[in-house]
Amino acid sequence: MSNLENKVAIVTGAASGIGLACAQRYAADGATVIGIDRQGCDEWESVSSLSPASKLHLADVTNAGELQAIVATTVGELDRVDILVTAAGIGDGGPVNMLEEDAWDRVIDINLKGTFLSIKAVLDNMMARRSGSIITIASVEGINGTEGGSAYNASKGGVVLLSKNVAIDYGRMGIRCNTICPGFIETPMFNGLMDSMPDFKADIAKQIKLGRFGKAGEIAGAAAFLASDDASYVTGQSLVVDGGYTAGHSHGIVELMGLT
Ligand SMILES: NC(=O)c1ccc[n+]([C@@H]2O[C@H](COP(=O)([O-])OP(=O)(O)OC[C@H]3O[C@@H](n4cnc5c(N)ncnc54)[C@H](O)[C@@H]3O)[C@@H](O)[C@H]2O)c1
Repeated sequence: MSNLENKVAIVTGAASGIGLACAQRYAADGATVIGIDRQGCDEWESVSSLSPASKLHLADVTNAGELQAIVATTVGELDRVDILVTAAGIGDGGPVNMLEEDAWDRVIDINLKGTFLSIKAVLDNMMARRSGSIITIASVEGINGTEGGSAYNASKGGVVLLSKNVAIDYGRMGIRCNTICPGFIETPMFNGLMDSMPDFKADIAKQIKLGRFGKAGEIAGAAAFLASDDASYVTGQSLVVDGGYTAGHSHGIVELMGLT
């Protein structure tokens, strides 16, 4: 277990799925967690019971003023921001000729611009203290294309490169920035999408080398490592956490050879 005792972490998208799991894990590891989400969450109780100074703020990551106000309050009350996780995001897309311009704008605004604005909001404090760990949540779909990916994949590819550039620009100040690229993780977003496409879900499952979908806590485990001093020399990296989905294709040859 990594030790985040006395650390202050801001987590966006903290009311559900991966963001909520990161908030829970960080609280269990000793951090005070400031969650940001545009919706509330009954399960947040599990975070504040572990870490009583933790709070969930209702705000939209596309609103720079709201983000800056939460960071200012956090710094006023807790003195600093040590860790940022940007997990707020939405899924949408489709082949380009079928994708409406406003759907494109919405995905890029929340997934990419929201990540930019969240990072921008915490940088002054991290720069002043010459320390910080920023963890963005992209996707394996930010590294490889997928059918109909368009807006979502473009937003996540943007997050991957934005994160590398933050690592380059602020490494001299002791600020690290890494991306986690999750594969297919069972969360409300994933379940909502997959429940309407059972054949597609079964096809993906066949390509996951560990033979199962991921759990949000498994992404939180990677986020705990990247936030901790165990990752003190890790920056500018994209950590793929996908059960081997992107390791390569399998076509049943080893089964033919008798490996079961
Ligand atoms: N679940 C997966 O399989 C998977 C795979 C790869 C990447 N991801 C990424 O992980 C992140 C978290 O996804 P999840 O699966 O936990 O989804 P989720 O829908 O369970 O949680 C996302 C949270 O983000 C919040 N949010 C959305 N737009 C917001 C906004 N404008 N301002 C503030 N909060 C906002 C939602 O209210 C929600 O609570 C997303 O960026 C997603 O793209 C998920």
